[in-house]
Amino acid sequence: MKIFVDSGSLREIETLVPLGIIDGVTTNPSLLAKETGDPRAIVRQICRLVQGPVSAEVVATDAAGMIAEGRELAAIDEHVVVKVPFTREGLRATHALANEGFRVNVTLIFSAAQALFAAKVGAAYVSPFVGRLDDIATDGMGLIRQIVDIFRHSDFATEVLVASVRGPMHIVEAARMGAHVCTCPASVIEGALKHPLTDIGLEKFLKDWERAQAAHKA
Ligand code: E4P
Repeated sequence: MKIFVDSGSLREIETLVPLGIIDGVTTNPSLLAKETGDPRAIVRQICRLVQGPVSAEVVATDAAGMIAEGRELAAIDEHVVVKVPFTREGLRATHALANEGFRVNVTLIFSAAQALFAAKVGAAYVSPFVGRLDDIATDGMGLIRQIVDIFRHSDFATEVLVASVRGPMHIVEAARMGAHVCTCPASVIEGALKHPLTDIGLEKFLKDWERAQAAHKA
């Protein structure tokens, strides 16, 4: 399963890319609004850093506007994936952009039917938001299970991109279910890197080693 960083922060992305576990980035208007500077310049810099798929979202709400904006976003860098919200207009725009050869990530997916329709019009990715479903006492990962199951019985090239991730267990469950991608806030990736038993174990190895070296020299 691929791991993307869900962030508009160059600092966060720069910190994680050297670890070698990051395959791409997803941004959205809320994430980019937290940063200072021209959002399109930030997207370009993220593409240079990650050298993998970077989702940049349209803010137009009509199909013609989304298509025009999608073309502009795709022109920023070859790694840009145009992110389009799942609406009637978004479906029309996805269909047109995919036919022109652009990769589209259909976002704000909250049902399996939405994911199926997005895949039918040629989305490269569908982004179901698991955390926001959990927030309203609905089974977010249950939705991933349904979509993965549907795609297994179809010949779509569309990848299931688990979004709105809240903790490391979402990553583990997404991988177990066979999702293609999990996009995670940097804090979730940092949390998943740590284990107290690793720290305790390493401390003991190093202490034992030092003690043995000192005894050897004595
Ligand atoms: C994904 O592409 C979205 O940007 C993101 O995962 C939304 O997450 P949130 O629900 O934490 O805002």
